[in-house]
Amino acid sequence: MNETVDPRVQAMTLDEKASLLSGLDGWHTKPVKRLGIPSLLMTDGPHGMRLSATPDGIPAPATAFPTGVGLAASWNIGLIEKVGRTIGAECRRSGVDLLLGPALNIKRSPLCGRNFEYYAEDPWLAGNIAAAFVRGLQSTGVGACLKHYALNNMEKNRQNSDSVCDRRTMHEIYLSAFERAVRESKPWTVMCSYNKINGTFAADHHYLMTEVLRDTWGFDGFVMTDWGALNDRVEAVRAGVELEMPASGGATDRELVEAVESGKLEEAVLDRAVERVLRVIDQRDQAQAVIPAPAVDLADHHRFARQVAAECMVLLKNEGALLPLALGKTVAVIGPFADRVRVQGGGSSRVPCWQTDVPLDELRKRLPDVRHAPGCDADAEQADPDLLDRAVRTAAEADIAVVFLGLPDRIESEGYDRSDMRLPAAQEELLSAVLAVQPETVVVLMNGSPVEMPWADRVPAVLEAYLGGSAAGGAIADLLTGRIAPSGRLAESFPFCMEHNPSYLHFPDEDRTVQYAEGVYAGYRYYTTCKTAVRFPFGHGLGYTTFAYSRLRFSQVALLEGETLTVSCRVRNTGDRTGGEVVQLYVSLCAGLVRRPERELKGFAKIELAPGEEQEVTFTLDKRSFSRYDASRECWVADSGVYTVRIGSSCTDIRLEAGVAVYSTDRPAVRLDEYVTLEELAAHPDLAPLVEAEVARLAAAPRDPGLDAMGEGFAHAVLMTTPLRVMARHPGSRTDRAWVEQLLAACRDALET
Ligand code: BGC
Repeated sequence: MNETVDPRVQAMTLDEKASLLSGLDGWHTKPVKRLGIPSLLMTDGPHGMRLSATPDGIPAPATAFPTGVGLAASWNIGLIEKVGRTIGAECRRSGVDLLLGPALNIKRSPLCGRNFEYYAEDPWLAGNIAAAFVRGLQSTGVGACLKHYALNNMEKNRQNSDSVCDRRTMHEIYLSAFERAVRESKPWTVMCSYNKINGTFAADHHYLMTEVLRDTWGFDGFVMTDWGALNDRVEAVRAGVELEMPASGGATDRELVEAVESGKLEEAVLDRAVERVLRVIDQRDQAQAVIPAPAVDLADHHRFARQVAAECMVLLKNEGALLPLALGKTVAVIGPFADRVRVQGGGSSRVPCWQTDVPLDELRKRLPDVRHAPGCDADAEQADPDLLDRAVRTAAEADIAVVFLGLPDRIESEGYDRSDMRLPAAQEELLSAVLAVQPETVVVLMNGSPVEMPWADRVPAVLEAYLGGSAAGGAIADLLTGRIAPSGRLAESFPFCMEHNPSYLHFPDEDRTVQYAEGVYAGYRYYTTCKTAVRFPFGHGLGYTTFAYSRLRFSQVALLEGETLTVSCRVRNTGDRTGGEVVQLYVSLCAGLVRRPERELKGFAKIELAPGEEQEVTFTLDKRSFSRYDASRECWVADSGVYTVRIGSSCTDIRLEAGVAVYSTDRPAVRLDEYVTLEELAAHPDLAPLVEAEVARLAAAPRDPGLDAMGEGFAHAVLMTTPLRVMARHPGSRTDRAWVEQLLAACRDALET
């Protein structure tokens, strides 16, 4: 390890060094006054500023944006950057240096209690949204903190469960969003998760914290623990986790000092950790010296939050163009969330909104005749007959009913998971009763994760409003009345029922262990591969217009090593309203050597078109777009072959597709040992000619008549799939050990040349 060069580290006592590696309190790092080293102030995150370090401990009012799931459903990179900038401006005003976000864990199961905070079931989408957020935030001189790294996809037992996952799945699904965000946006900090990964606590995980995060992705900030996620102070510093949060009362600082004094920990390792913390402090000082604190006008932020919320909501269904609501109709506004709006989830991310818009009030401002009945309590298991009765009468007397349903806080929060995907029974009962008297019914949902919708076929229109932040109420009114056209698209699949989800048999943990047994088949990767129909697919969402796709083009017929491929298509607004569309690009290689998902998102673009307007949309694909993670070689590899590129409006609504050849110098792994079969050798492109010649030679030689009598197909299968060493022992096979040695040597030569 290099001698430290930072003179401040050299000037520090051992105690001072150790002191920099744990919190001063819940939210600050410790200063070293003697050397003029200031502290950093951090706060939650991720969809607004929750500044808890106030004199009375009551968080300061701020703007709450839609929670993660909604932000990702906008699929709008520019918009998310601006959200980051706006939150950054509020942080600067309050002297906050680090925002604890974005949270980008993959939604493995719809039941994870914290899904509302997380972006997507797809790493490309989650990684790009996170990178945009970090870019925006850090452009204001406030650092980001990617959390919770890694494989924290369940709340139950989050402090002691073990996520057991193979390396391929880990990299392709659960790490690559972090990788994208680290490489693209250079976050100042990362937060390690509570859980274990393959038997080792995240805080002690050298492979994840150092080999992957720093050595492979190039992260150069510091890693902090989630609050209380430290397992072993000395081990964590060795692994690459610098800052323990929150304060430890000095106990773990002493452990570090003793470890250095006793020779258990090299002082250079401690110095390196201190340097990493100092680097971020310097980064903050330099950034804030040149970037003036942006002006904050909370009313302006609220208006922006309303625009963002409208882009984050997803119109799932709109039969008979029931929406936007026709003017002049009597509208019954029903349901527990119409006047008691749920704008965010429970736990550390809850922002104390300085203003909250209520959908009922906002609808009243825009519609002449609105009648209201709550219908039931949000949390009730059983309907209250009086409330139900009044709601049914209100619905029957109106021209149209808008029913606000969703998940109450008790069901969805940080700290625990949902036990099923249903809405509370009283809400389902309310909806059935309303539908019995009013077929013209719109459902507006407020929840942070998919719900089962056994009623969906009976309801003509459904708007998924998610948890839309401070201005959700206004945004809902804007969308329902057509002031704004919906343009959000699902960042997760809505299965018909929980049992269809690929993680179903392995969620939550058993005996503190979660087996990620579905492998890389998370979310839509599973549904599209196994042809399992879902209620609403990943990428789905409607607007108030329609789009036609045409002219799929590739910049070249094949992608060669080191090149990029430009894919383009044209999209035209064929309706009579301006609207937003999310053009999605999926790739697949279904006949490869290694089984892969039927669809993988590798590009997306959000566009807005006026009626009749047409635009060319382009995507750039590179080798990584076609690669899979090869665990045996610990790197990404692209298999040569013809890949299908699909462009669509969701993962199942594919409008254009074509094949493209990819030539890569990567070669599949092959085991050149005596257990290998001719079939395995023949699958390798560099060995195929040699093996085919050998097979032809053996097939032409006189055969074992007994084997022939068992059928030609069987004889061929025996030849191709018998391990070489077994074949060599077989009396009638015309092969022996020398043949095995020669063949393996020839294969080795072929691979080397
Ligand atoms: C959460 C983090 C949060 C931290 C500080 C933890 O319990 O998991 O996401 O940033 O608390 O509030």
